[in-house]
Amino acid sequence: MPLLDVQNLFIRIGRGESAIDVVRDISFSVGSGEIVGILGESGCGKSLTAFSVLGLLPQGLSAAGQIKFDGRDLLSLGEQDLCALRGNRIGMIFQEPATALNPVQTVGDQIAEPLRLHTGMGKREARAETLHLLERIHLPNPRAALDVYPHQMSGGQRQRVVIAMALACRPSLLIADEPTTALDTTVQRQILDLLLDLVDETKSGLLLITHDIGVMAEMTERVLVMYGGVIVESGPTEKIITDPAHPYTRALLRAVPQRALGYDTWLESIPGTVPAPSERLRGCLFRSRCSLAGPECEVQPDLIPRGPDRVAACWRLPQVDGSVPA
Ligand SMILES: Nc1ncnc2c1ncn2[C@@H]1O[C@H](COP(=O)(O)OP(=O)(O)OP(=O)(O)O)[C@@H](O)[C@H]1O
Ligand code: SF4
Ligand SMILES: [Mg+2]
Repeated sequence: MPLLDVQNLFIRIGRGESAIDVVRDISFSVGSGEIVGILGESGCGKSLTAFSVLGLLPQGLSAAGQIKFDGRDLLSLGEQDLCALRGNRIGMIFQEPATALNPVQTVGDQIAEPLRLHTGMGKREARAETLHLLERIHLPNPRAALDVYPHQMSGGQRQRVVIAMALACRPSLLIADEPTTALDTTVQRQILDLLLDLVDETKSGLLLITHDIGVMAEMTERVLVMYGGVIVESGPTEKIITDPAHPYTRALLRAVPQRALGYDTWLESIPGTVPAPSERLRGCLFRSRCSLAGPECEVQPDLIPRGPDRVAACWRLPQVDGSVPA
């Protein structure tokens, strides 16, 4: 049984006939010690998917389907049961480190809080464990860091603190939402190495959300490619990088500098933008940007198998496979 098993998840804005699906019918799983990536452009529903696992969707949005964690259906749990899981069995590294920290509480107190709340540690014991965590995330001068406020730290240090908070109670599942987007390349490298070490050491499952294909390629074993709130392709990362099936995945890969910086190769951008939830047409959501689109694409294609553990949703997959230029 996977640690996290999401089946037919829908996330809706509003209710009744005017409700709009921002995430539609997605299914995926994360096993213990496994790193699974969610990749996609801005607005495709990555963060909302993460929030739904934690029961933290913004007001006015609701989730339907099944989200099982360790065999328990999270969507049927009440707030009290979810609180007992959040920050305890499931740790979240939020997209914005600055807003994830309380500016008027010291770093030491913030990390100690989940320890005191979930594990019943006393003040002294929680402080000692917090120091241990700060050492573990390789924060410079960890003892002094206990008593500083977030604004006295650099962006990279703050992100380490957010990671320490997420790890405090040794969660079985970590969800990291763009954990390195706001950081410079050197610090990004350190944070990614830290996450890899931690997963290796604790055998936690990691759901890593990113729009950076380089990060996804390096860190994850499996990847879900999302577009406009649906999964358009998923499978082993290596296979998807070397042999992408869906025109959107192919376009994303052509937009990565490392791949495109050959002598005669230009970096390509994907024309247009992801349609907003209220502007989504019937049929394949990528069709306004897809050079292969035809009349059949006015009907939404289902995800179909593309080999072991791989699926993709496109009417023109044989053509894609036959290397017809997209
Ligand atoms: N509170 C909300 N109310 C209404 N719509 C929302 C709300 N939060 C997000 N959305 C919409 O849902 C869609 C998915 O948002 P989400 O934040 O999950 O995107 P994302 O893939 O995480 O993007 P990014 O890469 O920019 O973080 C977007 O179109 C967004 O406008
Ligand atoms: S279904 Fe049609 S529009 Fe959608 S990705 Fe495939 S070819 Fe393009
Ligand atoms: Mg997001």
